[in-house]
Amino acid sequence: MRGIILAGGTGSRLRPITAVSSKQLLPVYDKPMVYYPLSVLMLAGIREILVISNPEYLDDFRQLLGDGSQLGIDIGYAPQDRPRGLADALRVGRDFIGDEQVALILGDNIFYGHALTEILRRERERLDGCTLFGYPVSDPERYGVATVDDAGRITSLEEKPARPRSNLAVTGLYLYDNEAVELAAELKPSERGELEITDLNRAFVEQGRARLVDLGRGSAWFDTGTHDSLMDASLFVQILAKRQGIRLACVEEVAFRMGFIDAGQLAVLGKGILDASASGYGAYLQDLAGV
Ligand code: G1P
Repeated sequence: MRGIILAGGTGSRLRPITAVSSKQLLPVYDKPMVYYPLSVLMLAGIREILVISNPEYLDDFRQLLGDGSQLGIDIGYAPQDRPRGLADALRVGRDFIGDEQVALILGDNIFYGHALTEILRRERERLDGCTLFGYPVSDPERYGVATVDDAGRITSLEEKPARPRSNLAVTGLYLYDNEAVELAAELKPSERGELEITDLNRAFVEQGRARLVDLGRGSAWFDTGTHDSLMDASLFVQILAKRQGIRLACVEEVAFRMGFIDAGQLAVLGKGILDASASGYGAYLQDLAGV
């Protein structure tokens, strides 16, 4: 399975902090936002990853993440010349996906939950059509909203409905069979001029091959598109760090725990950060590596 992080868009709701920076490079507490979706793909065991962003930001992402080899993964980059909608990621990433299945994750979505790794592994194995991940929220009208039957099959899917039929928001993580690439190629822009991910997902709903996994109460999901939600996410990450001493979405740690790099390589990464800055983040990596 290939992984795509869609990190495009103008971040207009976050102006002026996005005036000169990609939204997905803004800090969420102690690390750039893109680390969070990257860590989710890595936890799913995905090692070939494409980052899609606006042409003017691609070099920034490249500078931050390089070719991924330091994390034992492959990271490539592709431009999206203007924000054409989420489903456009499958068009931009067409060659990269090739004949494989694909996991698409939005660059501003943050997931946390102790069962997450297990859920991702299981869903990857049983994927047929598309699998979405739902999260119960108090304001579903802001999101894609799904209803499901007892078997977890999606029975309806609506984008930002005025009157939501459930409180299950569709989060920004989507697992697809390869045919999603063809379906995305056939999509027509919506009224707001975008290729809607919900339209793509609906094609699978119509085939009866769209599943929704409820992430449930024991997990946390944030999208970070507004000043308040960005702050909420940062506070959440800070609280976990302070209370439990864990760093959520520490991609170096994930690489180590997934066996993509060994303790020696982790120590080198930690030392690099420490030497440069006396950063607590570097010390955390060194500690994990047993140095
Ligand atoms: C997009 C999707 C929506 C989904 C949300 C998750 O909305 O269109 O279905 O629930 O991401 O973050 P947007 O954030 O682009 O408004």
